[in-house]
Amino acid sequence: MSFSGTSARLLPGGPVAERVLAGVAADVAVLRAAGVTPALATVLVGDDDASAGYIRIKQRQAAELGFVSAHVHLPASASQADLHAVLADFNADRDVHAVLVQYPIPGHLDYDRALQVLDPDKDVDGLHPVNMGRLALGQPGPLPCTPAGIEALLAFHGVPVAGREVVILGRGATLGRPLAMLLAQKRPTANAAVTVVHTGVADWPRYTRRAEILVAAVGVPGIVRPEHVRPGAVVVGGGVRYEGRRLLPDVDESCAEVAGAITPRVGGVGPTTVAMLFRNAVRAAQRASGVG
Ligand SMILES: NC(=O)c1ccc[n+]([C@@H]2O[C@H](COP(=O)([O-])OP(=O)(O)OC[C@H]3O[C@@H](n4cnc5c(N)ncnc54)[C@H](OP(=O)(O)O)[C@@H]3O)[C@@H](O)[C@H]2O)c1
Repeated sequence: MSFSGTSARLLPGGPVAERVLAGVAADVAVLRAAGVTPALATVLVGDDDASAGYIRIKQRQAAELGFVSAHVHLPASASQADLHAVLADFNADRDVHAVLVQYPIPGHLDYDRALQVLDPDKDVDGLHPVNMGRLALGQPGPLPCTPAGIEALLAFHGVPVAGREVVILGRGATLGRPLAMLLAQKRPTANAAVTVVHTGVADWPRYTRRAEILVAAVGVPGIVRPEHVRPGAVVVGGGVRYEGRRLLPDVDESCAEVAGAITPRVGGVGPTTVAMLFRNAVRAAQRASGVG
């Protein structure tokens, strides 16, 4: 879907994801030719239909890319220890290179504690504390998928980032905070002047209005409005909230009337996030096997 009656150039994520996934498929082929079968294990806890659907889609895509995928489905009544035991088994299994725990998990379970049990080298989401530390230090390791997807999206569409003013609205652990670390790194597709604003900055529009690149990373539908956007700026909508199957983005559609370029309401950052998950998985297999 695109914004109607707008002048902003659209920055779709689909072609970015296609390019990343083509690279993943090529890497998988090299691994297989060397006798290594990349394996992505998935863990689903409970009976949430949407989560089961997301896992099925990822398993299908994994198979198309040439991964094998082990799967464990724990009942909604599973204990924290049950979940940890599954992760410990995958940690110990040398044939499993990467592990995905489908989020959300039932409310009585602690996702962050479970994540800490996982071998950081098998952390396909790039959110393990060790991997956040590696990101902060500029060391190699799995990168958080949505921030890495946003960097790839900007690079793919030829949006210069180096030396420019990026303002990120939101400092959450999955998006705003790691994205700030990523885009401040000394690399050609990053190297930006990054500012992060949040609920502690009451007058955050003062910052977003001066951004050359504005990233919404909040999860409050419609929080970013045209008056928050510098005319001609690049606007990236990362934050979304789901109401049932309805996707409600942070960025109000009318921002396209002010922005110079903007991610589409649907098919923007989302596809790049999934592509980065598979890139993390194949890189985990490369690291573990020493092939590629
Ligand atoms: N597109 C994708 O594929 C994808 C993937 C991952 C996440 N997401 C989305 O990205 C969003 C952020 O995820 P997250 O896990 O990082 O979220 P989070 O931990 O909930 O963080 C949200 C951030 O937004 C800030 N915030 C909330 N209300 C605000 C307000 N009224 N004014 C200013 N700042 C406000 C919060 O500020 P405080 O820190 O001050 O509380 C917090 O820093 C979510 O919508 C999530 O669904 C999308």
